[in-house]
Amino acid sequence: PARLAFVSYVVAIDQGTTSSRCFVFDSAGAIVAFDQREHRQIFPRPGWVEHDANEIWHNVRAVVTAALDKAGNPAVSAVGITNQRETTMLWDSVTSEPIGNAIVWQDTRTASVLADYGDIDTFREATGLPLATYFSAPKLRWLLDHHRHTSVMAGTMDSWLIYKLTGRHATDVTNASRTMLMNLSTLDWDPSLLSAFGIDRAILPSIVPSSGPIAEITTGPLRGVPIAGVLGDQQAALMGQACFDVGEAKCTYGTGAFLLLNTGTSPVASRRGLVTTVGYQLAGQPAVYALEGSVAVAGALVQWLRDNLGIISTAAQVNELAAAVPDNGGCTIVPAFSGLFAPYWRPDARGVISGLTGYVTKAHLARAALEATAHQVRDVASVMAQESGVAMETLNVDGGMTASELLLQIQADVLGVEVVRPTITETTVLGAAYAAGLATGVWPDLPTLRAHWKADRRWQPSTDDTARETAAAQWAAAVQKTLP
Ligand code: G3P
Repeated sequence: PARLAFVSYVVAIDQGTTSSRCFVFDSAGAIVAFDQREHRQIFPRPGWVEHDANEIWHNVRAVVTAALDKAGNPAVSAVGITNQRETTMLWDSVTSEPIGNAIVWQDTRTASVLADYGDIDTFREATGLPLATYFSAPKLRWLLDHHRHTSVMAGTMDSWLIYKLTGRHATDVTNASRTMLMNLSTLDWDPSLLSAFGIDRAILPSIVPSSGPIAEITTGPLRGVPIAGVLGDQQAALMGQACFDVGEAKCTYGTGAFLLLNTGTSPVASRRGLVTTVGYQLAGQPAVYALEGSVAVAGALVQWLRDNLGIISTAAQVNELAAAVPDNGGCTIVPAFSGLFAPYWRPDARGVISGLTGYVTKAHLARAALEATAHQVRDVASVMAQESGVAMETLNVDGGMTASELLLQIQADVLGVEVVRPTITETTVLGAAYAAGLATGVWPDLPTLRAHWKADRRWQPSTDDTARETAAAQWAAAVQKTLP
């Protein structure tokens, strides 16, 4: 008898730092349709960054509707959610309305109160995180201190969307691992951390695995479909790149750049400034941990050249401009807009452009902007090699900025290792779809997902060690200039 082939569809929602996107995938892991909407970046003061959570919710609803329309409104098996991590907000449990704006991960307003909680290593053992403005707990404390309110619920962007879509107050382990309130070993809110930041457990979501049934959507065109996968965007990209084995790593170039290495089922502590985090957890299985090198500003610098300096009118133009010159003309940009993240953790650092002479043109600035991303990734990659004992042979890359072939050549030159880009660079949404599809039987297991991964292009280093070291020294000297 003839067998009927059923195609399943999985929807992935990516609530990112600058935009919200919805992708529809088929069961071969191919993109069928997508839609995207940007939201406002609100900068009330230097170092402060906020988002309007209602604007984000409206955008998410709009991109879901539009992507499903473009796909021909197929029957959907499962929904996965992935999101900008750490960004923290409050909402009213009675009205479901946000209380104030969300404080974005890049925001440094809590720098001056961090010392009240301890030193950089106070929470490292319990949480895997250095005490920094980046993580949620100090932001949440700030919100609670500045918005006196009854019936408060708190969460990161995943929780906000899950709540609006299903009415359930939940977060996944990867997102919870960025709050500085979850214990990395118990995978639960830690009473001593809650008391250190004065947080009442009742306002926090319940923590669930990254892949497993969470709740059914009760509103909009996806009504009745289960949310079955949730991961922070960088962890989702780790899944989307099929880094399921110990020693496999990826680097995603988005607003920031994030290098994650799968370290298996036990957390590996970092002594040199990396972050220990949950990579993913499949329902009923132990968590898989990762070491992470977090770089706050990558694509955000290109946006700044476009929006604040106006030397390009589209982000893609940075490549044409940078390609017009053979080098940076002696100029270096260190974009310490949110202080410096890994491996430095200096909230007091501020960006510099160094080496300016009358010779430097906007083309040199464009080139220095791409180089800044490559050098920041090298800084975290070399610490990761030292701490993991795994020498990097190739770097798997993905994310929006990897459309820049010039960036990837610069990255190979700066690192001295091969850089590989897969055919699907939208690994964040792909990973969220994988988590949801694994939980609902669309895909049976991890090896099936790994078989989807295919290399698109590889870049080899084209410079020698001397040139590499000279460039690294110029970069290191500029980094020193960012510190007060
Ligand atoms: O930790 C912040 C990170 O999740 C933001 O990711 O993609 O907006 O650079 P992205």
